[in-house]
Amino acid sequence: MGIIVNVGGCGFKCIGLDLSAQRERDKANNGQHFFFSLYFFVSPLSPHSSKFPNPSPNLFLHSHSSFTPLTLRSNQTRYRFKKLPSSNAPNFLVAASAKAEPLKVIISGAPASGKGTQCELITQKYGLVHIAAGDLLRAEVAAASENGKLAKEYMEKGELVPDEIVVMMVKERLLQPDSQQRGWLLDGYPRSSSQAAALEDYGIRPDVFILLDVSEDILVERVVGRRLDPLTGKIYHLKYSPPENDEIASRLTQRFDDTEEKVKLRLRTHHQNVDAVLSVYKDITVKVNGNEAKEHVFAQIDAALTHVGEQRKVNSGSVAA
Ligand code: AP5
Repeated sequence: MGIIVNVGGCGFKCIGLDLSAQRERDKANNGQHFFFSLYFFVSPLSPHSSKFPNPSPNLFLHSHSSFTPLTLRSNQTRYRFKKLPSSNAPNFLVAASAKAEPLKVIISGAPASGKGTQCELITQKYGLVHIAAGDLLRAEVAAASENGKLAKEYMEKGELVPDEIVVMMVKERLLQPDSQQRGWLLDGYPRSSSQAAALEDYGIRPDVFILLDVSEDILVERVVGRRLDPLTGKIYHLKYSPPENDEIASRLTQRFDDTEEKVKLRLRTHHQNVDAVLSVYKDITVKVNGNEAKEHVFAQIDAALTHVGEQRKVNSGSVAA
């Protein structure tokens, strides 16, 4: 028996298939049933079709000469059927276009835990698109847009900028073609249960959620010593990552919210929200000791991302088998 998977005309592409079989006793008929579970992992074809537009797209299982429609549930479709007793399990041939999905990573942690510093190293090695909610907001502030003016009021108080501004801003950046093609590294988002829920609603889920764990006294020291190069965007620290020369040192700037007083407010906001966000991603969270030197922190993250990559290869290998 052959199976043909057709994922046409529904705004989705098939990005993976998994087939598993199990044998179960059928008490009523005193025989055996073979159950085959076929999983379809699909994603929107267009970066703009972020929500699943059609609750029952044209996804079909072709068995013998009849087509059986499948039901799409979130970004995973499951179809189960049984073979009648007395004959052996059939061989399946699954035909579909399966393309490796780019890596999707969220990095999280308290203010000044080193998210931006690690993102520089991760993007250098993995080529992911770095999307930092704080940077997007600071760009709005610098442009003196209406959103920027409103955002600055919250940022100065160390509070979260309202979802009406942040959610769409981040979602649109995630759905740009470069993020979709190269994969993304989302920094400082989501920071509340409502932001995490919005991502889930859009069907946007990371492969891994990295949590930088840093003690509070170190965080304060990192904030007050942080400096930024407006020319290159590089992050420095007067003690831990000093500028390479006097020319760079002379142009370094300090963020308006990088004072001891403001970091305490930002930390309070972080503590109020962190557990709600972690609960959404607990099955894919990797906790990293961020107290160490940046190279050692990166080594832990690199190991975690390598492991995720290997897992994905194993999973796609089981599809091809
Ligand atoms: P945002 O810009 O995201 O700030 P943050 O979360 O407070 O984080 P930081 O950027 O301060 O620190 P980081 O973890 O990137 O550390 P870094 O690598 O620079 O947000 C700012 C504001 O925007 C928020 O308060 C909020 O108002 C608003 N906002 C942002 N996202 C939002 C959202 N989703 N919803 C609503 N509002 C939002 O490192 C810090 C310093 O330490 C540097 O000097 C660095 O050189 C040094 N350093 C880093 N790692 C090490 C190390 N391992 N050893 C020694 N030094 C190190």
